[in-house]
Amino acid sequence: MKLGVCYYPEHWPETCWADDARRMAELGISHVRIGEFAWSRIEARAGSLTWEWLDRAVAVLANAGLKVVMGTPTATPPKWLVDTMPEMIAIDAGGRPRRFGSRRHYCFSHQGYAGECRRIVTAMAQRYGNHPAVAAWQTDNEYGCHDTAISYSLAAAQAFREWLAGKYGDVASLNMAWGNVFWSMEYAAFGEIDLPNLTVTVPNPAHELDFRRFASDQVVRFNRMQADILRAHSPGRDVVHNFMGFFTQFDHHAVGADLDVASWDSYPLGFLEQFWFSAEDKQRYARQGHPDIAAFHHDLYRGCQKDGRWWVMEQQPGPVNWARFNPAPLPGMVRLWTLEAMAHGAELVSYFRWRQVPFAQEQMHAGLLRPDGVEAEGAGEVRQVAQEIAALPDPGPPPRQTALVFDYASAWVTDIMPQGQGFSALRIAFEYYSALRRLGLDIDIVSSNAELEGYALVVVPCQPIVDQPFVDRLAASGAQVVIGAATGSKTADFAIPPGLAPGPLAAQLPLRIARVETLRGQPCQWLEQVETKLDQPRPGQFASGKFHYLARYPAIDLLDDLLPQLAAAAELGPVPLPDGVRVRRTANLVFAFNYSADERTLPEGLFAALLSGSQTLAPAGVAIGTAP
Ligand code: GAL
Repeated sequence: MKLGVCYYPEHWPETCWADDARRMAELGISHVRIGEFAWSRIEARAGSLTWEWLDRAVAVLANAGLKVVMGTPTATPPKWLVDTMPEMIAIDAGGRPRRFGSRRHYCFSHQGYAGECRRIVTAMAQRYGNHPAVAAWQTDNEYGCHDTAISYSLAAAQAFREWLAGKYGDVASLNMAWGNVFWSMEYAAFGEIDLPNLTVTVPNPAHELDFRRFASDQVVRFNRMQADILRAHSPGRDVVHNFMGFFTQFDHHAVGADLDVASWDSYPLGFLEQFWFSAEDKQRYARQGHPDIAAFHHDLYRGCQKDGRWWVMEQQPGPVNWARFNPAPLPGMVRLWTLEAMAHGAELVSYFRWRQVPFAQEQMHAGLLRPDGVEAEGAGEVRQVAQEIAALPDPGPPPRQTALVFDYASAWVTDIMPQGQGFSALRIAFEYYSALRRLGLDIDIVSSNAELEGYALVVVPCQPIVDQPFVDRLAASGAQVVIGAATGSKTADFAIPPGLAPGPLAAQLPLRIARVETLRGQPCQWLEQVETKLDQPRPGQFASGKFHYLARYPAIDLLDDLLPQLAAAAELGPVPLPDGVRVRRTANLVFAFNYSADERTLPEGLFAALLSGSQTLAPAGVAIGTAP
């Protein structure tokens, strides 16, 4: 595994560059991502391209033996461009423009902006595509960041109508599929259909779901346009995009199909603070991050690229600036997060950013260096971990053991119609994942289209839309299968299936969900009334052969009871782990991580031989050994 860093030569005097490059290499860094926000310096006025400074920056990095990951600058269109086509700005759900003055101020559906992107990406790819130091390209930056994958602009409305016409052919079919007879919502022509915002009460969920599918397709198209240009002008280089944490506004499996490498931006402390975790967990893991946040995304994004190739493009190196509270990592966590990425099969971990920038929005965001150029805490850990990685044997490929199924459409369905506050397919997937990881299992997070052969255990936490081929693959897989509540509860048109939930799964699980109620709570309790002749080993739990159904949420108590039995039956050798400890195996190595704030003793028999660390781990400690 290689190490990288994100660098912005345009923020620093040119006299610093050579020394920066030398210090990066000295730290053990081999890859440097640049360029992704530099459009105003590349093209200060329409058509006047200024490459010379960037040529020199690339040369300085190359001279220090560093490889470049070049970012296309399309996340930050410059002011002159926005002023020439003001309708390129995205519109929020309240109908307000998302103005110039930060970043990502564009609508994915605006054809004029797409043309400008084609032009700048082509020019950049022609300029640097064959440079020997350029190893990879990053398309844009974090599609959808700051809630930007969905736009309610005129361009989006027009493109949506065309998308609907392509999908349904005639408007009568759309009326039928959406159930538009309800509340007299019927249309006579595609041209009459608006975007699903600013309605009096909630729009038709089928309308919203199609809009989410459309918005996702627009991101896929935009990325594919860039990927095609980069491949044409820069053969042999990897095309990469940096995804975000806990973000579901587009189908990452679909974008990933056009990438050589999926990557993501890992900010464990910021994510812990900003998402649904309990006040107790936020306190407890404030300096470590929840023990499953980074791993969940590693396993998710590994499944978003067909060869399982993935990187961490941005790794938090110290306090960030954007969460409600921004603690510093516990000493050792930057090293731990880096080794954990290696354990999950990353090819590269790149830190964000090289030097803390003293001006503008992110001035309080740590880098590996302080604004005065002195090394911050993270830098020492990078130096140490670079040496450790170099000394470790090749970890080999990840095992194929447990699959957790997650589709982005599941998150759209529960966003659109949660039925109880906090009922979220993403959160449920994370909670099931956590329960599996507490047993020491190694998990692949896969889409419902994935091949399931070879897995001993397949878990489907919450998958409202289920199709027959998926059910067939589950049945053929030979795995023990755990299905969570609300699975199979909707058709692809966002309606209740004719034979009620769990839809096509009923062939494997002879039961019927007669009623759903949700009770007050944070998150809500989701309770299903089940009609069946199947036995109920515990209230809410049903089994038919190797299929197991959990008819309520939260279901942690059921999972904690059922999963160890199933894992043992599947000979996965579950090892319940001490609180805050997680393990991950590769073909050749076993890694153990202590996320807790106290010393922890690892279970016996985890390793054949220890290569690094010890059986007792200090907080932020890591043990690495050979597989038994
Ligand atoms: C990411 C983004 C970076 C930077 C970073 C700060 O979301 O890609 O450009 O803003 O967050 O943590």
